[in-house]
Amino acid sequence: MILVEATPEMSRDRDRATHQAWGGPVPLAEYQALEARLRGHPWPRACHTLWLLRGDGGEVLTSCETYRMSSLRKGYGPGHSYAVASVYTEPHQRRRGHVTALLERLVAHVKATDADAQAMVLFSDVPLEVYRGAGFTPRPALAQSFDALPGDPRDGVDELLPEDQASRALAAVPLPVGPFAIWPAAAQIDWHLERERIFAQLLGRPRPPACGARLGAGWAVWAAEYRTGQLMLLLVHAPGPGQADALVGSARRAAHAAGLARVTVWNNPREAPWPQGRLEDRLERLGSVPMIRPLDPGVRAEDWNWIPRALWL
Ligand SMILES: CC(C)(COP(=O)(O)OP(=O)(O)OC[C@H]1O[C@@H](n2cnc3c(N)ncnc32)[C@H](O)[C@@H]1OP(=O)(O)O)[C@@H](O)C(=O)NCCC(=O)NCCS
Repeated sequence: MILVEATPEMSRDRDRATHQAWGGPVPLAEYQALEARLRGHPWPRACHTLWLLRGDGGEVLTSCETYRMSSLRKGYGPGHSYAVASVYTEPHQRRRGHVTALLERLVAHVKATDADAQAMVLFSDVPLEVYRGAGFTPRPALAQSFDALPGDPRDGVDELLPEDQASRALAAVPLPVGPFAIWPAAAQIDWHLERERIFAQLLGRPRPPACGARLGAGWAVWAAEYRTGQLMLLLVHAPGPGQADALVGSARRAAHAAGLARVTVWNNPREAPWPQGRLEDRLERLGSVPMIRPLDPGVRAEDWNWIPRALWL
């Protein structure tokens, strides 16, 4: 078995295989075009790799993508963490340990080639056993959701955030306290918005009137997820009293304007319980459960606690 970094041609070939799992009703040619458009966005262009595990006869046994992100181990400064995504084994190759073999080789490769590598993370939609064998540990996966509300998203906030200004919100959010954090890039936030643009166009759906809101020093950034009818809060910073409620209220009205049923937030930016929200443990339905495999001996799985949706892949 050998770990191979895919060329653009190999990536297009692999889209043909993954179409079965992720293409849904989208025809193959359209799926390949939208995957190519997503890969062509500046953020993946700077940090994305598709990895193939090839068998001795050259056949692809399994594959995954990685995205390099910035992370911070307190006291040791900045480094990198790698998010693994789109793990895929074709049906006839499953349950033979290929994913475990791929991830073990990837961990060894990253450790050997990046002296600043701190962790590998992923968001699992499948039984956690799939990743445990390669050393990944699950982290808390709570989410709260709120029904969309009719009304003007500008009500109760100082301004709505145009999509080309999402980086203002990111710059205003302080680094989380704690021994370890993975920090989203401004281009990564725009990659979520690029997904929104692509699917709005593909499905002929309206887009939310803004990508976030500000109230005083509090910020929220969001993106539509049309497949599940949600407006996902990518990042929320609400240092003052009432800010979280006002920002979520604005998001609920933006969701309604875009024909989305609800707003979902992963990290609770509000100290007190949130009476209007429905609390959900994503672990129960295996929905984007964060898992981490430390690479630096100084990083412990339990140190990864600040996990906003902006980091999801
Ligand atoms: C999930 C998937 C990638 C697993 O690939 P695979 O090559 O079969 O995985 P492996 O054989 O390496 O399995 C690793 C471990 O997970 C277990 N496992 C694999 N599939 C499992 C399943 N569906 N349910 C429970 N355990 C499973 C294996 O038994 C093995 O455990 P072990 O090491 O204790 O024996 C594959 O089923 C797939 O491509 N599914 C469709 C796409 C998808 O959902 N990708 C994941 C997105 S998060």
